[in-house]
Amino acid sequence: MGNIIMLDISDIRRLKFDVLVIGAGGAGLSAAIAASQEKGIKVGLVCKSLLGKAHTVMAEGGMAAALGNVDDRDDWKIHFRDTMRGGKMLNNWKMAEIHAKDAPARVRELEHWGAVFDRTKNGLINQRNFGGHRYPRLAHVGDRTGLEMIRTLQDHGIHQGIDIHMECTALDITKDKSDRVSGIVCMYRETGEFIIFETKSLIFATGGAGKSWEVTSNSWEYTGDGYGMAYEAGAELIDMEFNQFHPTGMVWPPSVKGILVTEGVRGEGGIMKNSEGKRFMFDYIPEKFANETADTEEEAARWLKGDKDARRPPELLTRDVVARAINTEVKAGRGSEHGGAYLDIATQRNSEDIKKKLPSMYHQFKVLAELDITKQAMEVGPTCHYFMGGIKVDAETSMTTVEGLFACGEAAGGMHGANRLGGNSLSDLLVFGNLSGKKAVEYSKGLKSYPKINDEDIKHIIKKATSILNREKGNNPYIIHEDLQKNMQYNVGIIRTKKEITDGINTIDDLKSQFENVKAPGSSQFNPGWHEALALRNLLISSEAVSKSALLREESRGAHTREDFPDERKEWLKYNIINKKGKNGKMETIKQNRNEPDPELKRIANSAIEELDNEVKKDHNKLTSEV
Ligand code: FUM
Repeated sequence: MGNIIMLDISDIRRLKFDVLVIGAGGAGLSAAIAASQEKGIKVGLVCKSLLGKAHTVMAEGGMAAALGNVDDRDDWKIHFRDTMRGGKMLNNWKMAEIHAKDAPARVRELEHWGAVFDRTKNGLINQRNFGGHRYPRLAHVGDRTGLEMIRTLQDHGIHQGIDIHMECTALDITKDKSDRVSGIVCMYRETGEFIIFETKSLIFATGGAGKSWEVTSNSWEYTGDGYGMAYEAGAELIDMEFNQFHPTGMVWPPSVKGILVTEGVRGEGGIMKNSEGKRFMFDYIPEKFANETADTEEEAARWLKGDKDARRPPELLTRDVVARAINTEVKAGRGSEHGGAYLDIATQRNSEDIKKKLPSMYHQFKVLAELDITKQAMEVGPTCHYFMGGIKVDAETSMTTVEGLFACGEAAGGMHGANRLGGNSLSDLLVFGNLSGKKAVEYSKGLKSYPKINDEDIKHIIKKATSILNREKGNNPYIIHEDLQKNMQYNVGIIRTKKEITDGINTIDDLKSQFENVKAPGSSQFNPGWHEALALRNLLISSEAVSKSALLREESRGAHTREDFPDERKEWLKYNIINKKGKNGKMETIKQNRNEPDPELKRIANSAIEELDNEVKKDHNKLTSEV
């Protein structure tokens, strides 16, 4: 890692684990719980915030799983097909298969651990509609599903003997001579005290990097720490150009701009209107969806009345389509008063239903916008919500390209392809959190001893962090962050062009130079400026990877829209885009050929829906007769 550094590290506390998880949202908690189920395995969990505070809570409307409780035509095959189509077929096929097959078991397990789901009249877990899901599929708890999930995992997790370290920021990974993970250096935010975790395996469940943009549903923690640290350790990042702009964030007042308005509002029948009062989504139905989506208000109204054969309203098209439609309406001068669109549930459902199904939304708008959603339309607009790309992992083990480093949840890329369906993230967290926890245990058990940490690496990491405090003067981290957010918002936003992305990359280069000389005044004890500066490195790496990948992908697919390449281009389906640290220390961005999918999975994803419905019906009949 560089020259010998004179720094006494003998007093720094060291702890040893078999499996160490970084990040304690839904994925991290699931991973830690899964690992702790194995006797004799020492599991640690580190989070930079307080336990229970994670972006998981921003997936409000539900977790997608083909339980078939509300519509028994549902099945893993249909869920898989929806996920692949939502992701514009760029998903990692195997991950999408594992996810669709395992999600129902994981949801039931969560219920077993105490999650109190809304119920159907027959007492089963209730499921609601969401964009891109053919059948009502989202197991939910009103509009607080993510919160219930975190609460349940946390309650269960703290009884599993997991050693939890809160308000502890991870700085960088260490590796042994064979390039295997050997540990990670962290710092307690309150005291500034460093700690060295030696571990056989490390799981990153660090979420995304939504804080790279100005308007985002993400809170302060989402600075791409996992992407940055994994990249620095030599891991590959995959498909970072796919950034989801959730169509419905709050747009007014400015202090709450970006806060999520759950897709559950549309799932419960909410409709979108422009300033002329027109229900504009009917004008934006892509040809591909024409035979699956209602094209008249009458047809959509049949669906709302519960007619199972009615086609779905266009407000439930995938998020990329709805976000672009709002963007186009605003650009054409038909936006709402504060530059968004109107989302109206008040005229569609009675006040009692709204308060029962969407209690948080009712409360959120009442308190933050002084607006009663049972009487008035909300104003909403796109907000950066989720990274489909992330650290590249092996589908069946969740191991990254660095030995001993695993990743799951939003930190990992591939599962959602070019666009994620709403509700697929909570189930992803459960499925791949569980898988990575188990696989990390397997890996750790295979090691006879702890991979050795080199003290010089520790010194190097600490020196880099403290130089931000110790230099005499330098650049203000808050200003660099603000400039980065503006840059990403305007140059690498919902609609992209070569010129804008290139400007974006040039600005990132400039910000990287400013970062070299960043300065946080004050001491190491609870110093927000220092933490901001430490996060900046990871934000800059994430933003550079996003921008370079966005420039390379010369097509529009899912959430990545190039105005200069407006359509999907078939040849681009062959490639993932990979970012990796090159030998010269600079970021390399390359196209990588995708593997051919299993023919059976390909057949399922490409089947006409009627054909697949019939096939599923036969499968279900066969199962019933066997039972
Ligand atoms: O709109 C929502 O409730 C968000 C869900 C998700 O991102 O999965």
